[in-house]
Amino acid sequence: MYGSDSIPDDPDRTAFRKTEKYKLYYDSTSKSVRKKKLPRPVDLLEVIDFKSVSETFARTGELRCGVTKVENRFDKPVFGLDECPGFYFIPAALRIEEECRWIKESLVSFPQPPNRTNHNAVYGGIHNLFNAAKNKQVLVKEDSVADDATFHNHKWASSEELDSSVNGDNCKPVPAAVLLRKLRWSTLGLQFDWSKRSYNVSLPHNKIPDALCQLAKKMAAPAMAVGEEFQPEAAIVNYFGSGDMLGGHLDDMEADWSKPIVSMSLGCKAIFLLGGKSRNDEPLAMFLRSGDIVLMSGEARERFHGVPRIFTDTEHAEIGYLEKQLSDEDDICYLEYIKTSRININIRQVF
Ligand code: OGA
Ligand code: MN
Repeated sequence: MYGSDSIPDDPDRTAFRKTEKYKLYYDSTSKSVRKKKLPRPVDLLEVIDFKSVSETFARTGELRCGVTKVENRFDKPVFGLDECPGFYFIPAALRIEEECRWIKESLVSFPQPPNRTNHNAVYGGIHNLFNAAKNKQVLVKEDSVADDATFHNHKWASSEELDSSVNGDNCKPVPAAVLLRKLRWSTLGLQFDWSKRSYNVSLPHNKIPDALCQLAKKMAAPAMAVGEEFQPEAAIVNYFGSGDMLGGHLDDMEADWSKPIVSMSLGCKAIFLLGGKSRNDEPLAMFLRSGDIVLMSGEARERFHGVPRIFTDTEHAEIGYLEKQLSDEDDICYLEYIKTSRININIRQVF
């Protein structure tokens, strides 16, 4: 049970930081090594639950204080918050098949070059990471470039191949499974250069895949002016494992803030914090589940936001239905990953 909790008050922490009380902390009270570490309980009573908002609305036509229903042409209800113009929440916007499709694409095709990932800085572009992890392969330095002390020229090898070859250099082979676990982001379409915090249009890139583009255009509609169409040009895919979080930030690198960011959640449930224009404004907390879509446009783009917590335990992750959908032998590898992970795809119009 996630009961009440007390994190010591620190006057230097901003209101935004304080709400990171939702972060995963482990109880340090149990000294016994054999005892499994348990997540410290956290009070979830104030977390807005749009699934229950949506269910109550369908049943009674009633909405909780501060929440409005937004007119739209979808078959799904779209909700807004009185205090946050430009923010939209579409609970369960995706069908299960769509969720599975985007989970698979996020793991198999999105991290492929020319798309960049957090691994680029160390390894250069890595091909076929997910398959290599599935086949228990390891990344080894390519012999042909003898004096390159990095992994920038590399290949996949099986552990048997590794045993039979003499590994004469300083580069230790890296298991694909480890690299997959450490995958934190990949970028689609126009590539974002994190070191310069800007889009680098000269980097090689592919267009956003057509199906993702169509989906984003459709989902963006409630946040678009009449007659205008959203033009997806870039997307950031975030991968979260247990204990990973995304600190409070603004997405301020796009030219036109009136255009929405279309943000899609997949896998384990998370807490999303929607703050104000200053880090001193106390954020609202809400749950994000697999299949939910959030739009941030106009004024809402000036609000700090972040993800302090994902839930990987069966009770709170709420992805039991994905286990059924991904139970085929070919799909087990996706299930294994997503059971303890969350993926977020956020799609942007840059210019
Ligand atoms: C981002 C972001 C939110 C999420 O990548 O900029 O805000 O739900 N992601 O993961
Ligand atoms: Mn963001």
